Amino acid sequence: MTLTVSILGSTGSVGKSTLDVLAQVRATNQFDFAVEALTAKSSAALLADQAIAVGARIAVVEDEAALPELRTRLAGTGIEVAGGRTAIVEAATRPAAWTMAAIVGAAGLAPTLAAVRQGGIVALANKECLVSAGGLFTDEVKRAGATLLPVDSEHNAIFQVFDFERPESIERIQVTASGGPFRKWTREAIAAATPEQARRHPVWEMGIKISIDSATLMNKGLELIEAHYLFGIDPAKLEVLVHPQSIIHSLVSYADGSVLAHLGSPDMRVPIAHALAWPRRIATNSTRLDLAAIGSLSFEAPDLERFPCLALAQAALHEGNAAPAVLNAANEVAVDAFLGGKIGFSGIAPLVEAALNESARRGWRKPASLEEVDDLDAKTRTVAAESLIKAA
Ligand SMILES: NC(=O)c1ccc[n+]([C@@H]2O[C@H](COP(=O)([O-])OP(=O)(O)OC[C@H]3O[C@@H](n4cnc5c(N)ncnc54)[C@H](OP(=O)(O)O)[C@@H]3O)[C@@H](O)[C@H]2O)c1
Repeated sequence: MTLTVSILGSTGSVGKSTLDVLAQVRATNQFDFAVEALTAKSSAALLADQAIAVGARIAVVEDEAALPELRTRLAGTGIEVAGGRTAIVEAATRPAAWTMAAIVGAAGLAPTLAAVRQGGIVALANKECLVSAGGLFTDEVKRAGATLLPVDSEHNAIFQVFDFERPESIERIQVTASGGPFRKWTREAIAAATPEQARRHPVWEMGIKISIDSATLMNKGLELIEAHYLFGIDPAKLEVLVHPQSIIHSLVSYADGSVLAHLGSPDMRVPIAHALAWPRRIATNSTRLDLAAIGSLSFEAPDLERFPCLALAQAALHEGNAAPAVLNAANEVAVDAFLGGKIGFSGIAPLVEAALNESARRGWRKPASLEEVDDLDAKTRTVAAESLIKAA
């Protein structure tokens, strides 16, 4: 049987790793697959190369200004091309039994939901869409009869050691964090960090937005919220554990004192291959774990004073209501502002906090529909942009 796959965000870090795993599957004849859709924001040249390499049926760019280049590069190949936000959603609607959702940010929500509504397997890398839509997203998954497989390495780890038959026996889930590039930096040094320093992650090679989120530890906060919605676990049972080697990806503690941990090399091809083959396993040439060579593993508690974004995300998780969606949208604005030189690194957390305070002051409620999620996201971006103007 041929598996039909689509990759939303194929030109990004996760998208490229997914194509790498698929190339290994093809080279080793493990199973047959056909690529339906590949999408990008504006990387037309790379998208065209990818589409030709895997024989995709359609390649789509969100940015219509990139469409002429995509069209030129794919002329005569028989591969369809399209451009625009609606075209991305339409691409996600085309029949695919397995979709990788790897667009970054809340922009991934509509296309990921379109893939979910097909009722197939959605391998979820895009955590922001789950953070902003929360239970509305997981309700859509249930309604469509889709299967959501976590690709974020920590959540893929939890998925592999989680007792879905007896979730009440779970006492605690610890999501591990490398600590990011500023783990040992002083508060003053962190405040003066440049985008170049912030994007240099000590362990993982990732896209720019998640790299900045890893430096602020907001990424770990988003992951706690993601874990809450993916596994239905009470916020009080979710913790962050700093583990600089990133070998243990998460730990699940049970009522009898057992702790089940998932280990692996820090290589995204491992969780991607797991999600691609689930419930089977496929062979990959991902980096093998050599514990003797690593020698020792270390752990520490996160420092919430030097990394206030994690504290804000934990508070948003506990509060629920509008807070997770507001946190996510304000963080996207703050990260863009930092990368654009409008605020310093230490300006990210205050901008997010100001948006959360404004949301509380205006009495913004938990969205009751996906339209309300979009509305809340847009209102938050306006509030955060206003704070930026005031701060300038
Ligand atoms: N990287 C990792 O190791 C990792 C691990 C776990 C989870 N994740 C999550 O996976 C998601 C993707 O991360 P990444 O590191 O792969 O990001 P990335 O390298 O920045 O790639 C993002 C992808 O989304 C596309 N894109 C960006 N904005 C878009 C928009 N408005 N509409 C349509 N497409 C858009 C990009 O296209 P262009 O190339 O044209 O810009 C690119 O294909 C994030 O949610 C991240 O948190 C990543």
